[in-house]
Amino acid sequence: MKDTLERIRREALAKMEESMDMDHLNEIRVAYLGKKGELTQVLKGMRNVPPEERPQVGQMVNETRAALEAKLEETKAALAAKQRELQMQAEKIDVTLPAKKNKVGHRHPNTIALDEVERIFVGMGYEVAEGPEVEYDYYNFEALNIPANHPAKDEQDTFYITKDILLRTQTSPVQVRVMEKKKPPIRMIAPGRVFRADEVDATHSPSFHQIEGLVVDKNITFADLKGTLGEFARELFGEGTQVKFRPHHFPFTEPSAEMDVTCFKCGGKGCRMCKGEGWIEILGCGMVHPKVLKMCGIDPEEYSGFAFGVGLERIALLKYEIDDMRLLYENDIRFLQQF
Ligand code: DAH
Repeated sequence: MKDTLERIRREALAKMEESMDMDHLNEIRVAYLGKKGELTQVLKGMRNVPPEERPQVGQMVNETRAALEAKLEETKAALAAKQRELQMQAEKIDVTLPAKKNKVGHRHPNTIALDEVERIFVGMGYEVAEGPEVEYDYYNFEALNIPANHPAKDEQDTFYITKDILLRTQTSPVQVRVMEKKKPPIRMIAPGRVFRADEVDATHSPSFHQIEGLVVDKNITFADLKGTLGEFARELFGEGTQVKFRPHHFPFTEPSAEMDVTCFKCGGKGCRMCKGEGWIEILGCGMVHPKVLKMCGIDPEEYSGFAFGVGLERIALLKYEIDDMRLLYENDIRFLQQF
């Protein structure tokens, strides 16, 4: 009996020592400590042991069981630790691996140009206003001193929803909307989409963008207009830029002018960019017509103002030397990525 216990102890401990995984370890446990295990069998054989030897053998059996159980726990813990270690190895993340780059979009040249124009005017204390793209004939024409049979209406033909409601042809109606709501002093710009019955070509589109500007206060003169728009041109195109005002006609301003800037490419000598002229036209402007002020409820005897309108696409095309306006609307990523 003693020998058997010695053997069981030796064999079981050796097997546990060599066991490779939990399943195997469990098999060993069942084989020795299980209900039909060898040690249990020995215990069952106790009744054949002479009574005087029983205490001694009983103690040995207990010691053997205790030794096996202790080794079992120890091995279990070692195997679990080994398994965890292996799992950690397998799940190791290489943080030095370069990350997958997400493709980030680009701002559209129109957006970049608009942000730049807004930055300049906001810096001069202007507010940014907005008006509807679907507009009343009254705001788009009538209140801007363009009555029903005025020839200017012919140049700005558009899509009519009803006789009185149309797609606005210019951002100038926002001037009227702002003056109706706000008393002077007014300093605002109003960017937005406008519509015309124009054929698509390199410089025309039936839908494009303008930025309107309006200043109304006491004692506003043409000198304020010149100073402001000159500063705008220098900010936008560079320090050395010069401006020139050519007389023009707009029904809602008097006097009216178009403003040219010296070509930022050749500095005024004449090149392909400015078609050899040295000057590039960039906006229309003028002193707000007294009739317009009056229609908006502002007394032209007390207040005066100036206004201007810039084509956003024109600025974008010039600034980025793009020679065809259609490129701005094709949404070709190869084009847009260049800005
Ligand atoms: N609305 C004019 C156009 O579309 C541009 C313009 C000219 C706006 C003179 C103005 C201005 O505010 O004073 O052709």
